[in-house]
Amino acid sequence: MSLYQPLSLINGQWVGASSGATFDVINPATGAIVEKVADLSADDCKAAIDAAEAAFPKWAALTAKERATILRRWFNLITEHTEALAELITEEMGKPLAEARGEVAYGASFVDWFAEEGRRIYGDVIAPHMADKRILAIKQPVGVVAAITPWNFPLAMITRKVSPALAAGCTVVIKPSEDTPLTALAVCELANQAGMPAGVINCVTGMDAPAIGQVLTGDSRVRKVTFTGSTQVGKILYRQCADSVKKLSLELGGNAPFIVFDDADLDAAVDGAMLCKFRNAGQTCVCANRILVQSGIHDRFVEAFSARVKAMKVADGKTEGSEIGPLINADGKAKVEQHVEDALAKGATAVCGGSPHDAGPLFYSPTVLVGVTKDMRMASEETFGPVAPIYRFDREEEAIALANDTQYGLAAYFYTEDLSRTFRVYEALDYGIIGVNTGIISTEVAPFGGVKESGLGREGGPHGIEEFLETKYGCIGIKL
Ligand code: SIN
Repeated sequence: MSLYQPLSLINGQWVGASSGATFDVINPATGAIVEKVADLSADDCKAAIDAAEAAFPKWAALTAKERATILRRWFNLITEHTEALAELITEEMGKPLAEARGEVAYGASFVDWFAEEGRRIYGDVIAPHMADKRILAIKQPVGVVAAITPWNFPLAMITRKVSPALAAGCTVVIKPSEDTPLTALAVCELANQAGMPAGVINCVTGMDAPAIGQVLTGDSRVRKVTFTGSTQVGKILYRQCADSVKKLSLELGGNAPFIVFDDADLDAAVDGAMLCKFRNAGQTCVCANRILVQSGIHDRFVEAFSARVKAMKVADGKTEGSEIGPLINADGKAKVEQHVEDALAKGATAVCGGSPHDAGPLFYSPTVLVGVTKDMRMASEETFGPVAPIYRFDREEEAIALANDTQYGLAAYFYTEDLSRTFRVYEALDYGIIGVNTGIISTEVAPFGGVKESGLGREGGPHGIEEFLETKYGCIGIKL
């Protein structure tokens, strides 16, 4: 049996669009049509909210342990189907198979972790202000949640949102990216097999994301919207949620600085930069977007780093040993090309790459640029591609000022062997996530999220479940 049906999941049933319309899911490595998926209208989407609303009281009334048992079965099924899920991710999204397997493990880890965390939702008993009063603060699920998820992690961004929501007792309507709906449908099918009651998880597929987004944000029965995607779309959703004063989590764009100080361990910094920059061909919100290198180590870093970049294998993610797959679509590739052309025209030099790759129309060569400056587009915009722009700096304060000179504030990284500098820079960087001597910061146990225009709220760790809970204060008068 196939791992998914090319339909939407509403109230435990696989359904097509009322119009019968479908849309094509394309393999970005080959341009082939992978599947035709139900193209639901904004109106069709209302049935998913109806289902989530109807399922909410019963799901919320289960004990945390009962919900955890179902979540745990879901985790086991995702893990058992690692290979099939990884192949699906590679086929519809393009990332190398080895990375896709890593994404399945990463995505499953949220289900496992929040299954446990749901059993540790505690309230407070507060010392009262009067002798005949008793004061409690209990935590309750917020209600129906809409999870709007991106294409770059078609599995992990769903489980990172949905697992804490379900563990807290909420029901959900997922709107996966129209580029990558198949992985979403597969994980929903596995949730069904795990015994998820009808209506607890609903998944709406459709091309008209703005119209569906409007229904999800406009319906007052949806009490929380959680979104990962661009800052531009996040701002639209933020405005739309205002009318019904919804709770909102936004995980938006980044412009991550990756700073290498003179006193860094060079080999470690090169390893970290490779992982941080080229994971998912540079298509993550936490990828290094600007590599700032201090003058004393600059030339040695550029030499060692570009030697590694030149050796990277660019190929269809299904090819053995592929390290860089295609970009997601023509718009994504055009942006990368424009950023590189702009930098070269303004005086940067390509040490390697700097042009499209002949593996296929959506492939771009891993690129290292030196002599990059603040006036180039890639200094202020997220490139979202396999391009490593290197900036030179002299002083610590200069690096911090350059790093913070952006409206974004998601992730920042730096390499140093000096303990005092570690604390100074950690505290001075205006970001929600800081990697020190590491290029990979993502884990289910820690609070992931940004400041400034990179978003609101945190996902993962104990902070991640709080986003789906309301605090209810009770003041109880007693007779003495
Ligand atoms: C993202 O790019 O939005 C998520 C990256 C991660 O979870 O590591």
